[in-house]
Amino acid sequence: MKDVFILGIESSCDETSVSIVKNGREEIATIISSQIDIHKDFGGVVPEIASRHHVKNITIVLEECLQKANMKIEDIDAIAITYGPGLIGSLLIGLEAAKTLAFIYNKPLIPVHHIAGHIYANSLVKELSFPLLAVVVSGGHTELIEMDKHYHFKKLGGTLDDAIGECYDKVARVIGLEYPGGPKIDQLAATGRETYALPVPLRDDSYNFSFSGLKSAVINLAHNEEQRGIPLRQEDLAASFQKVAIESITTKVKKAIIDKKIEHVIVAGGVAANKGLRKAIEDLCQELKVDLSIPPMKYCTDNGTMIAAAGYYAYLDGRKADLSLNSKSQDQLV
Ligand code: KG4
Ligand code: ZN
Repeated sequence: MKDVFILGIESSCDETSVSIVKNGREEIATIISSQIDIHKDFGGVVPEIASRHHVKNITIVLEECLQKANMKIEDIDAIAITYGPGLIGSLLIGLEAAKTLAFIYNKPLIPVHHIAGHIYANSLVKELSFPLLAVVVSGGHTELIEMDKHYHFKKLGGTLDDAIGECYDKVARVIGLEYPGGPKIDQLAATGRETYALPVPLRDDSYNFSFSGLKSAVINLAHNEEQRGIPLRQEDLAASFQKVAIESITTKVKKAIIDKKIEHVIVAGGVAANKGLRKAIEDLCQELKVDLSIPPMKYCTDNGTMIAAAGYYAYLDGRKADLSLNSKSQDQLV
């Protein structure tokens, strides 16, 4: 079969990234321009500033990627683009670039849902096998997705309120850590002890999650200690919070693996970088004897590689868009 080269563009939040992937599994070249340092001072991503930086960066990132791959647009089979969900201004910059390339060079335009991208980051590591359970844990999403074949997604459950990454970031802010707080809580947790009692949310029979109660419990605890003049043991609070957050994920993952006779578990999204979560899911999959893949750190946060990989399977599935494709700030994968 002829090799298929997909160019993937990702600009849904604060990373401008372009990548070329061969046959959905082999990374040829990737360029990521991150704005983390720019948004740090504001304690979170400022949408208007993010859009402006995407405009400034997109052409440079695209040219650098082609140069690194030693390829021309003519060598590419299709252009894959994150159409949503994400920050609307940011999404539109990537989409316009993708549409322009598709139009000028007469290439198919493949719409990719951001979460499908996070799921397919795993296909760069290991071939996906089915039935598969995708544990999607990111700044905007916490979902359990079942797949019985490529590019067919079924949602088993998800968060009823905050996403897990959002909860990590808010808790981090309360205990005085810089944005993005998730990785810092993870680091602190490794040095602390689980001495603070926090409630494990939503102990029910569904595949759903809830993080707002846990977030409020941490905020209240921090305020109470402050009022009583007791210094907060940051690392112990981080460890206590992380234990409960992870436990609430692994309980539902275990139930899904057993109920749905899952053979392959994958973890996707920014929070897949969490060391505590990685270890807990590794232990669980070992106990239940199911295959597990977790992407290396570089594929966990937003990047064009995962969009190009997902774009390959969407392309094989015939999912092409025309130039009327629009960005969607909110959109469910299923
Ligand atoms: O997937 P992602 O880049 O953005 C979305 O698509 O939402 O995920 C970003 C999220 C942030 O909330 C960040 O704090 C969190 O992932 N994150 C972590 C870790 N690394 C990144 N959360 C916990 N532990 C980590 N090591
Ligand atoms: Zn993401």
